Amino acid sequence: MSAPSRTRRSARPAGSAPDESTARVVPAPASPRSTDRPLWAPPLSDLPLSDLPLSDLLRTETRPAHAAAEQAFALEDRLRDVAAYGALLARLRDVYGPAEAALLGLRGWDRLTPVVDVAARQRAHLLDDDLAALSAHDAALPRPRPVPPVLDSLAAGLGWLYVLEGSALGGRVVAGHARRALGADLPVTFFSGETRHGLRTDWRSLLAALDAFGAAAPPEVRWTVVAAATAAFSAVGGVLDPVGGGP
Ligand code: HEM
Repeated sequence: MSAPSRTRRSARPAGSAPDESTARVVPAPASPRSTDRPLWAPPLSDLPLSDLPLSDLLRTETRPAHAAAEQAFALEDRLRDVAAYGALLARLRDVYGPAEAALLGLRGWDRLTPVVDVAARQRAHLLDDDLAALSAHDAALPRPRPVPPVLDSLAAGLGWLYVLEGSALGGRVVAGHARRALGADLPVTFFSGETRHGLRTDWRSLLAALDAFGAAAPPEVRWTVVAAATAAFSAVGGVLDPVGGGP
């Protein structure tokens, strides 16, 4: 299942005069503009990217990364038995734990509009809860292997947070599959978000903060957010053992 695309919106602030980049849709130039699109960025859109709200830019540019992470999830195989499910949780803990700690260490969340409360968005402890509940059944679960991310700016943190929070949306789908495959009493608090209220509201609030940040940021900072989000997707995909390879 892929992340759905949303209707494209204009980045122009309400009440401001239309400018050339937002007044009409023009085909992308044959070669990227140096101020707009780095050379490493994949050619995914025929729309001008400079006028996309940052959240739309993120969704567009990371769509292949989402597909790759979903593929690495190989859900059917990881739900083949409780041990495989536990191994999935342990590997995810390797990414979410250090990443959330790094996000907490960044400054500037309270200067965003709306303010982003990263502490309230932490989910690694839910992985700990689920793993603890599983260990009661299976003492042979793999031990976590922490993977420290490189988060050296608020822009990088926003890219990571976009991915970690977005994964909670699809997590509800995963939780449903997991319980159908392995039983209604399977611990799925991490995926289901059942202990968290206002997931949708939090998500919309994060998108608003991203858009406001992106509207005020120079192109290179917007691309830093995209690059960090891509790295976060890769980190999640990369930490998962190849299917059939064991924990
Ligand atoms: C089998 C695995 C996965 C499934 C079935 C899945 C499914 C989905 C679904 C259904 C949505 C849309 C949710 C909504 O808007 O209501 C979504 C969005 C999203 N997912 Fe996944 N996902 C999976 C894995 C992942 C992983 C591993 C990550 C990252 C670590 C991730 C990150 C995201 C992000 C960032 C979004 C938001 C996209 C946007 O609208 O901007 N997903 N996913």
